[in-house]
Amino acid sequence: MHFDIRRLPITASTNDDAKLAAEVGAAEGLVIWALEQNVGRGRQGRQWESPAGNLYASVVLRPPTARREWGRYSFVAALAIYDCVGGFLPHSLVELKWPNDVLVGGKKISGILLESGEDFLVVGMGLNVLHSPENPLYPATSLSVEQAEIPPLEDILTNILKAFGVWYDRMKAEGFAPVRAAWLARARQGAVRVRLDQGEIHGQFVDLDENGALRLLLADGTEKSITTGDVFFDI
Ligand code: BTN
Repeated sequence: MHFDIRRLPITASTNDDAKLAAEVGAAEGLVIWALEQNVGRGRQGRQWESPAGNLYASVVLRPPTARREWGRYSFVAALAIYDCVGGFLPHSLVELKWPNDVLVGGKKISGILLESGEDFLVVGMGLNVLHSPENPLYPATSLSVEQAEIPPLEDILTNILKAFGVWYDRMKAEGFAPVRAAWLARARQGAVRVRLDQGEIHGQFVDLDENGALRLLLADGTEKSITTGDVFFDI
């Protein structure tokens, strides 16, 4: 996969820039990278604090597959960031958390936000490099807090995109199965509490379904698929 990186000193949200570019025909592989964001967005309409020093990038994809399968690309991105972070922190516990967070020592270091248009998908990736903004939901960390040697942001981005290309090609050739298996092998497992739009459920994290929904085993022995929610391991 070929990436065409456009670097901006500051922007509102790289996801917005990528969506605008995709709407007027940008090809798959366009990457909008900003050094700072004014109005960075997280999942579920939350804010993503974006001071200079962290990584903010959005990739335009034009998946040839059915829209219901597009969520699979967030796992491709999570694996790419996992590979990158694991490379910089070889002695730390790096794990994935559903739907697409990367954790170091149980703390969030990265987030991914998928947004789509009629015929495109934007994969927005944020990685805490120098700063770990306070987050009301989850404890956060950064590469610098974790004592990584910090390379230039451009090298971190290139590293992530290279891994993204590898996992992307793998999915293109072999489908979701290897990506799902790799994600599961790196995911923090166990008893979870999931905060839903309405209410909360507890269960045992057992699997991902074929489009990336979380499969939970509930206390009554039934299984439930979750497509949107926040997972906590603090039970
Ligand atoms: C999350 O809530 O965990 C997702 C955070 C996604 C943040 C990235 S930073 C680059 C891109 N632009 C945005 O406005 N958000 C995403």
